[in-house]
Amino acid sequence: MPLSCSQLSVNYGRRRALHGFSLAMEKGEIRALIGPNGSGKSTALQALAGLVKASEGRADIGGVAVASMSRKVIAKKLSFLPQQPAAPDEMTVAQLVRQGRFPHVGLFRSYDRRDEEAIEWALESTGLAGLADRTLQELSGGERQRAWISAALAQEAAILLLDEPTSFLDIGYQVEVLDLVHRLSRERGVTIIMAIHDINQAISASDRISLLEKGELRFDGEPKALAESGLIEKTFRVKGRFVEVAPDKPPHFDVELTKLPPSNS
Ligand SMILES: Nc1ncnc2c1ncn2[C@@H]1O[C@H](COP(=O)(O)OP(=O)(O)OP(=O)(O)O)[C@@H](O)[C@H]1O
Ligand SMILES: [Mg+2]
Repeated sequence: MPLSCSQLSVNYGRRRALHGFSLAMEKGEIRALIGPNGSGKSTALQALAGLVKASEGRADIGGVAVASMSRKVIAKKLSFLPQQPAAPDEMTVAQLVRQGRFPHVGLFRSYDRRDEEAIEWALESTGLAGLADRTLQELSGGERQRAWISAALAQEAAILLLDEPTSFLDIGYQVEVLDLVHRLSRERGVTIIMAIHDINQAISASDRISLLEKGELRFDGEPKALAESGLIEKTFRVKGRFVEVAPDKPPHFDVELTKLPPSNS
């Protein structure tokens, strides 16, 4: 399902967090949303999901304005993994993932085989089948993160918004989650946008990249073009260079551990 927004602006009180943000995603596209801390990535995702109100502009899911849809209708089409999701500590993994089916089940229908299959698939895809009966407080940070990803998957929405899905994961699970994202896009046509800090993961895992800085879109294009733009060094104030890995692979950003002084602009 296509996902787009046009000239979206969000203010928190008098602070402007996002300004004139636009984006157009085709069905099955994977988009990485990158940018420094506080640049508006989470705000952009929340605005796309209809969770914060835009002061200007609009977001559309499948060509329909998000602002005109109820939460329930949005949840049937779009699944959102927040950066810091919250749930009661005594909730079990299985209960959390079952909640992911709620948009389909609602208050009046009981879970059927289709729901159970989706739950099982979501647990297995995130390596959590063995932990289903643990409570959330009995999990490590990465396991908890996977439980939330699992709940988002169980929803089986056509659009997936992931706010830093790999942030607490060890490298093995980071690769697994990105591989899962790839399969969801290519095999199921899920449209996926994810905020992510690892530049190389963003470059190798996405079809297109949006780069935000101070709430403004600085770049929208293919990973290779971003590598050639010089914007990574400039935006993040780091020294580094892009290294060719193989002709058919995106280049790898090699960062020097020397921070540049802030820019004056
Ligand atoms: N609920 C809020 N109330 C007020 N200001 C907020 C709120 N949420 C975010 N902000 C501010 O809006 C700006 C954008 O924040 P946002 O969370 O979208 O950034 P981000 O790019 O996701 O950052 P990070 O990489 O740290 O997750 C920041 O200046 C932040 O301080
Ligand atoms: Mg964020």
